[in-house]
Amino acid sequence: MTRPTQTPSPTGLKRAGFSSGFGVLAATLGSAVGLGNIWKFPYLTGANGGAGFLLVYLLATLLIGLPVMMAEITLGRTAKANPISTLQALTPNRQPWWLIGVAGMLAAFLILSFYSEVVAWVFAYVFKALRGSILSSDPQVTEAAFNALISDPLQALLWQWGVLLFIGGILLMGVTKGIEALTKKLMPLLFLLLLLLCAVSLSLDKAMEGLAFLFKPDFSKMSATVVLTAMGLAFFKLSLGMGTMMTYGSYFRDDQNIPQTTFRVMSADLCVSMLAGIAIFPAVFTFGFAPAAGPALVFITIPAVFSQIPAGQVLMVVFFVLAAVAATGAMLSMMEVPVLILHERWGLSRPKATLLTLLLLVLMGSGCALSNSTLADFKLWGLNLFDLFDVVSSNILLPIGGIFITLFVGWVWGFDKFRQALSNHGQLHNEKLVRAVFFLLRYVSPLLILIVMLKGLNVF
Ligand code: TRP
Repeated sequence: MTRPTQTPSPTGLKRAGFSSGFGVLAATLGSAVGLGNIWKFPYLTGANGGAGFLLVYLLATLLIGLPVMMAEITLGRTAKANPISTLQALTPNRQPWWLIGVAGMLAAFLILSFYSEVVAWVFAYVFKALRGSILSSDPQVTEAAFNALISDPLQALLWQWGVLLFIGGILLMGVTKGIEALTKKLMPLLFLLLLLLCAVSLSLDKAMEGLAFLFKPDFSKMSATVVLTAMGLAFFKLSLGMGTMMTYGSYFRDDQNIPQTTFRVMSADLCVSMLAGIAIFPAVFTFGFAPAAGPALVFITIPAVFSQIPAGQVLMVVFFVLAAVAATGAMLSMMEVPVLILHERWGLSRPKATLLTLLLLVLMGSGCALSNSTLADFKLWGLNLFDLFDVVSSNILLPIGGIFITLFVGWVWGFDKFRQALSNHGQLHNEKLVRAVFFLLRYVSPLLILIVMLKGLNVF
């Protein structure tokens, strides 16, 4: 297949891109779908009151997530470079908008530090599932198994270093594309398994209670912090606000339909989350788990659902393997941000950039790994390192990134350039959509993000 000629990058950087429309969709989806869907979405929904939270999350996705994602991808594709160079190339004067890229790199390190620990739990659970020791619907059994894992400093550390070594190996061997291809093939399987889990969960005694929790809004739990958490989740799940989508956009083809890709990624991402929610909450109510169990929620309830099916043990192994694959895709996309910046901006070779990134992650990540054991008493603002990195990145850094990205497109880059880029230079005839998205980017999204953030952080 011959590729249409790509316009060269204004930064002069020469680089490869995704070769087909489907490849673009799969890779972008591979970044979006990860532990944000399977782990974070259910536990945050559970901890923040269910359906009301879900509603705010949906609004944040539509009014903020979609426009920000289109903005990031469009910027990246126009400049075809890492986030720092992209913003430098597109800024008409010498204003320091490239700092968005620097902030993104910082956010990437914070997120990867705790994310790698959650991936570590998933890897560990593959082996626990193999041994069958966690297959039980008794909350005490599954909770004890999870606590034993996270409160053992040695296990927490070794699993995490194993994960980092594994990801590093993929990057160093240059088989990222291969892994993306694999992810693409395995994701439908994860989808099917989630469907099966939903069917099982819906047949449980208190399925209706679980569904009511997920779909019948109870606004008594609503607060400014809950709204901020929902918005932070929208950023996190769609990989926004730190340059991941800008970086992926830089590999997009010139003839790719960006709005359409964005809609598809968002819809698929939402589907996976909803399936995870429907698989989990009926079981939570049937077996007497606490919906607000926090980060442990998925790890303690999923084994209970599998304990209800024949061949549950085998299927649970498959489930955690697939979750590990999804998480690996998301991690690779996050690593790409600092690695590409160190490579293209600092002139480090890709292997050196990868090693440096990994080294920093081992240092920072270990703090998160030990935050449920050795470092449990080390707290800032009442949060251990794991929670601190999570909250600071999702509720502060990503939204700030979002504000500056929307302001940049809305007020600096401007309507004409945005329209040219998003309509593929007039080929797509999507004038109304472009105008609507630009309106959101210029006025609605930045203001909304700012208000939600300041209110949520109790600034006023
Ligand atoms: N979206 C991914 C998930 O749901 C995580 C992720 C990948 C991410 N890249 C990101 C989160 C960039 C924030 C920013 O698991």
